[in-house]
Amino acid sequence: MNGAGQAASDSITRFRGDTASLPDVVNLLERMQPEYYGQEVERIFRRAWLPVLPLDEIPQPDGYCVVTVPVLKASLLLTRDGQGLVRAFHNICRHRANRLVAEGKGCARSFTCGFHAWTFASDGQLAAVTDASQFPGLDRAKWGLVPVTCETWEDLVFVNFSDQPEIRLRHWLGELYDGYHGYFAGREQIANWSIVVNANWHITVNAFTEGYHSLFLHRNTLPDYQGGKGNPMRHRPFLEVMERHGRYSAKANPAHAMPPVEACAYGHGRKLYPAFPPLDCSAPDFPRGINPGRIDDWAFDIVEFFPHFVLIQGADWHQMMWFWPIDVDHTEIRVLDYAYAAGSVGDRMAHSYLRVRNREVFREDISTMEAIHAMMRAGATPTIILSQQEMLIRKHYATAAAMMAVA
Ligand SMILES: [Fe+2]
Repeated sequence: MNGAGQAASDSITRFRGDTASLPDVVNLLERMQPEYYGQEVERIFRRAWLPVLPLDEIPQPDGYCVVTVPVLKASLLLTRDGQGLVRAFHNICRHRANRLVAEGKGCARSFTCGFHAWTFASDGQLAAVTDASQFPGLDRAKWGLVPVTCETWEDLVFVNFSDQPEIRLRHWLGELYDGYHGYFAGREQIANWSIVVNANWHITVNAFTEGYHSLFLHRNTLPDYQGGKGNPMRHRPFLEVMERHGRYSAKANPAHAMPPVEACAYGHGRKLYPAFPPLDCSAPDFPRGINPGRIDDWAFDIVEFFPHFVLIQGADWHQMMWFWPIDVDHTEIRVLDYAYAAGSVGDRMAHSYLRVRNREVFREDISTMEAIHAMMRAGATPTIILSQQEMLIRKHYATAAAMMAVA
């Protein structure tokens, strides 16, 4: 292909999936009303399969971790038994409803409440009752921990809060389910932080599922990592919508010039974002979900797991982001960064640069979330309009509307 043809094709997005029916105009203000939000909690979050934790937080048999789920005002106790099976329970003592495990993670085969010392095994069974003679006729089998439906997928634990989940996790994830086998293996966690923002949850998720803004909002932090002559507006070369979820691939700018500090940070370790070394997808067992459109000069993928989880995947790193609603006006964002396992000081420098870089860019994104929320609250206009490059946001609202339509 000649230069001009190449340049033209670089800026064309290849869409996969049914994009024709997705709305370009969305009533955002409607979704910022307390009554509407209350219905979202019940119709979306209580029905959805929700990723809550990466498995590496409970890596060992007999490991456990406490995870809060703000949107459902829940505290979960996730346990892993001697065979590695992961279970989820409401973190509540069945005696007087005290929080069973205060917080944190560790290794334990049983959990004793600090109030009256009832003890529960990691499989949820009520293992010991203090002063048991004073509970005549107590049937211990009926007073175990309250389970929450739980399944694991790759490196993530998912839960479902409905009494009877309508579908299994495999069905919920659809095409995503089989596409990432092995991708998460061998990584180490390099950042773990959270922040509460004054913004509705939709606004926060939407900040990460389009690249249209990167040229403008991130003009100082990421001046030339994407785009270039053939794709000046940084169009996504590949974008896919599924039954519920969506993903796109971003293209690197091959002419990206590393500033001195980046060259120094990556001088003795692997190059990471915002530099993008070539990716070889040719191995037969290479996960087909990574760079699913098999584009050249691949930079990274972004996947929205509806409703509230976004995964950014690079060649040697990935970032997990949770957008947990607290109430209609507040969202807790949790971020975990992972990279290849470090083997040298140079690798550590590379990790540090990625960690700092991601956080710096993230701060810019947060500034828009709170501004949008504040502006919408003024009530001047209820709607927003979305371009074709913001197709994953269109999909987000279409999935939300479909779930809200089922009483
Ligand atoms: Fe951004």
